[in-house]
Amino acid sequence: MCGIVGYVGSNKTVDVLMGGLRRLEYRGYDSAGIAIIDSSGVLNTAKKAGKLSALTAELKAHPINDGQTGIGHTRWATHGAPTDGNAHPHLGDNDKLALIHNGIIENFAPLRDELLAEGFTFESETDTEVAAVLLGREYQRVGDLAEAFRSIVARLDGAFTLLAVHQDQPGVVVGARRNSPLVIGLGDGENFLGSDVAAFVEYTRRAVAIGQDQIVTITADAVTVTDFDGHPVETEEFDIAWDASASEKGGWSSFMAKEVSEQPDAVANTLRGRITDGQVVVPELTEFGDDVLAGIRRIVIVACGTAAYAGQTAKYAIEKWAQVPVDVELSHEFRYRDPVLTADTLVISISQSGETMDTLMAVKYAMALGARAISICNTQGATIPRESDAVIYTHAGPEVAVASTKAFVAQITALYLFALHLARVRGSLTEAEQAAQVAELQAIPEKIQAVLGVEDEVRQLARWMSDTRAVLFLGRHVGFPIALEGALKLKELAYIHAEGFAAGELKHGPIALIEPGQPVFVVVPSPRGSAHLHPKVVSNIQEIRARGARIIAIAEVGDAAVLPFAETVIHIPLAAPLFEPLLAVVPLQMFAMELAIAKGLDVDQPRNLAKSVTVE
Ligand code: M6R
Repeated sequence: MCGIVGYVGSNKTVDVLMGGLRRLEYRGYDSAGIAIIDSSGVLNTAKKAGKLSALTAELKAHPINDGQTGIGHTRWATHGAPTDGNAHPHLGDNDKLALIHNGIIENFAPLRDELLAEGFTFESETDTEVAAVLLGREYQRVGDLAEAFRSIVARLDGAFTLLAVHQDQPGVVVGARRNSPLVIGLGDGENFLGSDVAAFVEYTRRAVAIGQDQIVTITADAVTVTDFDGHPVETEEFDIAWDASASEKGGWSSFMAKEVSEQPDAVANTLRGRITDGQVVVPELTEFGDDVLAGIRRIVIVACGTAAYAGQTAKYAIEKWAQVPVDVELSHEFRYRDPVLTADTLVISISQSGETMDTLMAVKYAMALGARAISICNTQGATIPRESDAVIYTHAGPEVAVASTKAFVAQITALYLFALHLARVRGSLTEAEQAAQVAELQAIPEKIQAVLGVEDEVRQLARWMSDTRAVLFLGRHVGFPIALEGALKLKELAYIHAEGFAAGELKHGPIALIEPGQPVFVVVPSPRGSAHLHPKVVSNIQEIRARGARIIAIAEVGDAAVLPFAETVIHIPLAAPLFEPLLAVVPLQMFAMELAIAKGLDVDQPRNLAKSVTVE
């Protein structure tokens, strides 16, 4: 949701903070701000509503003094509109203390009343300012930031990462973390804090993840981590697997265009090191224990948004290959009912960021009920994998555009690896059957590369459809979640009303939506691999065509049956049915992106959204 960066060291602090915020802007772009203790020991702040470019312009017009200690923030608004006044940092202790926040302080209203009754005043409508004033009041009492944090955190309900500086303690940034992300970057004579490693990867690739309910203090030369009671805690260092250039646009018009094009690598890198002699052996699962996996009787997948569609897609493969029943649940729905879970239930969470609060809460809840948990995650050191029993990392590289693309294909790839590993352990596929699936999987990067070649065709289609007000997407079997994903991409990028349906459901209601000229994308199953389903989908196409729908079919090369009925056919290479989603989704991603571009929209930072949803 919000992006946070902290720095102590002798580099230009303004540049470190603004560079970090640029890389974190995908987390929220309603406003941005920085606070720096300058070399004469005075706290300076600058903040501005709007994207980071507004703050850059503000700093150009009114530069602030630089120093060696600072914090910076990009905001995704929760409490209070995206205005200059509600932008972070917020101040406390007579403007000597600055604080930034990611998360929601749920009990901010009674705390605010308490502080108002004591005569404190507030400049903003935010929950964050309440924490700033509370921390400032405590600082006046104890005279130390970390100590002040330790006494106020017990009073805060909700989720938070808080970073603060105080001008009476130059050279120190203190952070407190509960349920929102915070990572340390270890430098040479400088140290960093960030919502994720992107904040500081330009300066160091050595990082340390901070656990739940911990307080961290950084100076230029030291890092101290304690629990909320002040007891020192052990931390573990890790190396960041990618370099700063991976999170740069590198000549592309947008991060999304770059990330769509990186999908062959995202799949190939996720496969790497997990296949031996045609058999899948996921090393992270070996640690989990074959006996435990063999004893799994049910799988529940929890995820949100695109990640949930990856889960829905993989359900078909897991059930077919490993013969274990799979339920796919939206994390926020799962968490707040009374699911029946037993010790032989495996919960698999899927999250690109590894920080989605709904999914984190679902995992914790499932584990508290006795289930085991595996996480599929793209972000090293993130919270969800740390809370889980095991993690299969997708190696898609940093995904910056808010709309998820390469993470989606990498998630399906990781889930297919999981399914094949499970099938091997359970003996539900023969070696030859397993090898055949592995060969299909290994061929996917090249096939996605071929699909990327339809770019011009899709761009033309998008331009032609730029006035469209509503689009429907149909699919069946594994094509159904792809229809849902195609609709989600179009909604979030092009702000067009879009719905995905199971093609078989059409006659049960949605067909009433069809009127002359209505565009409908249809993900058509292979006539070879899905001989029983293909004619049914072709019949669905005819039914809506008869009512005036304009059909855009995503169909296998050589599928002649759809040609007479479709206005446009976008061809994808031949693949076994379970692997078609990895190909069919690509033109839908490209279509949503091109339509957004045709409408003059920002494809990397769609309105109202943030990349990582760290509030429930
Ligand atoms: O980081 P996560 O994978 O947990 O995020 C889940 C969803 O918020 C995410 O996939 C969202 O739906 C994307 N914006 C879709 O493009």
